[in-house]
Amino acid sequence: MAQATDSLQKIVAHCKEYGFIFPSSEIYDNLGAVYDYGPFGVELKNAIKEYWWKSMVQLHENIVGIDASIFMHPTTWKASGHVDSFSDPLIDNKDSKKRYRADVLLEEKIDKFKEKGQKELEKKGIDKNATEEDKAKASRDYAKGVELEKAYTEAAQASDFARYKALIEEYEIVCEISGTKNWTDVRQFNLMFGTQLGSVAEESNTIYLRPETAQGIFVNFLNVQKSARLKIPFGIAQIGKAFRNEIVARQFIFRMREFEQMEMQFFIKPGTQKEWFAKWKETRLNWHLALGTNPESLRFHVHEKLAHYADAAEDIQFRFPIGFKELEGIHSRTDFDLGNHQQYSGKKMQYFDSEINENYVPYVVETSIGLDRMFLRVMSENLKEETLENGETRTVLSLPPALAPIKVAILPLTKKDGLPEKAREIEAKLRFVGRTFYEEKDTIGKRYRRMDAIGTPYCITIDHQTLTDNTVTLRDRDTMQQERISIDNLEQFIADKVNMNTLLRKLV
Ligand code: GAP
Repeated sequence: MAQATDSLQKIVAHCKEYGFIFPSSEIYDNLGAVYDYGPFGVELKNAIKEYWWKSMVQLHENIVGIDASIFMHPTTWKASGHVDSFSDPLIDNKDSKKRYRADVLLEEKIDKFKEKGQKELEKKGIDKNATEEDKAKASRDYAKGVELEKAYTEAAQASDFARYKALIEEYEIVCEISGTKNWTDVRQFNLMFGTQLGSVAEESNTIYLRPETAQGIFVNFLNVQKSARLKIPFGIAQIGKAFRNEIVARQFIFRMREFEQMEMQFFIKPGTQKEWFAKWKETRLNWHLALGTNPESLRFHVHEKLAHYADAAEDIQFRFPIGFKELEGIHSRTDFDLGNHQQYSGKKMQYFDSEINENYVPYVVETSIGLDRMFLRVMSENLKEETLENGETRTVLSLPPALAPIKVAILPLTKKDGLPEKAREIEAKLRFVGRTFYEEKDTIGKRYRRMDAIGTPYCITIDHQTLTDNTVTLRDRDTMQQERISIDNLEQFIADKVNMNTLLRKLV
């Protein structure tokens, strides 16, 4: 029975050993929360990008793509609200000097109370779908979790950071290193990385590495609308790097300082945002489900504390090995961004709607997913330890074939008798189907195992029979079944299975 791994550490180790992800600058003892993608990682990452891009741009007549620069005029970030509001509440432990995010400390404490409470409820036989009120009545710990959650939500909505500290003290949250409750006050810390443009270091020359790709879309809104002759409703999609000076940068590629986003801004008529928000929630959930995910591993989470630009926001959360966490955000951004850019730049950001003969600043519904976080999700759900009938175990990465870094491995049974030459001939043909891998070293069993571990859906073995009847053995990664297939049918067979269209067709 195959079991998805429940350990982040196993994923980290697997990613390193099999060339998916390496810590950045490892020979200098790494750079915190920055990672490099290796030979198989970059292929998987590119496949995820392709799945997103094609589903958004190719399958939607009214969505186009752009590729904006990372550096933008500094006023962009004043207008977007990031200079004033893009910050995290920090708190230091005075004894260990370790810095924490105060909101994360409180959220983790709520989760701990509820998890402990849940165990108590299970023992008492209380249904896991019972109301929060009933659960709180039946378990003291659960009640504490609910009580703290309420107080924290109120403090968050009022941006009352003194109350954060009071709650941390009241609920006796201690530093994991010193074990003490000796906390500083909570301070706001801006997450943008600043740098200097040109050779003179003046305050006015400070520019920022973009903390989200979205603003490159907003400032180009009219350029794109006019040049691509778009009519509202329409969308602009982009994939690109974003940078945030994250303080709590743990959990591998879940929270990084340099990461990639896949964002789409959908421009709509003011007043239609509820309808479009619901539509994009559904479309994006289907995109995730088409990967064959267990529906119970995905859920929506409504934001209690809205970002400075949103009038509604929900996350699609995924059950990572570290628990249910945000994977993608769907935000109703109103006319906040275009309105502010209009005000700060003095340039009109309006659209003339010929159907109603009116000019207006469009509203926006955004879908925003972290590419690296999506990578972690794909790894989490597909990396499995399987116990075979003979009692042996194997590690298998059961990726959807369209995402697999290597589509097919070509393995001559031995290094002699003309088998490598025949195998090379077949490999050269299959390159046009997708990335191939040729390997003649080690036993066939070991070679299969290595391909299982990097997620290769098909292995073909060239043996002596191949030379006489033009057939090869085709092995399926998931079932491990082997069948003989004519070389003439190989290319078409594999192409049909690994093609990105097999995924995309599920979406229409
Ligand atoms: N434009 C809206 C925006 O940036 P966000 O919720 O801050 O919204 C969107 O980020 C997505 O980007 C998140 O759902 C997450 O997948 C990803 N993301 C955000 N911060 C990240 C980080 N430090 N490391 C990796 N991914 C991150």
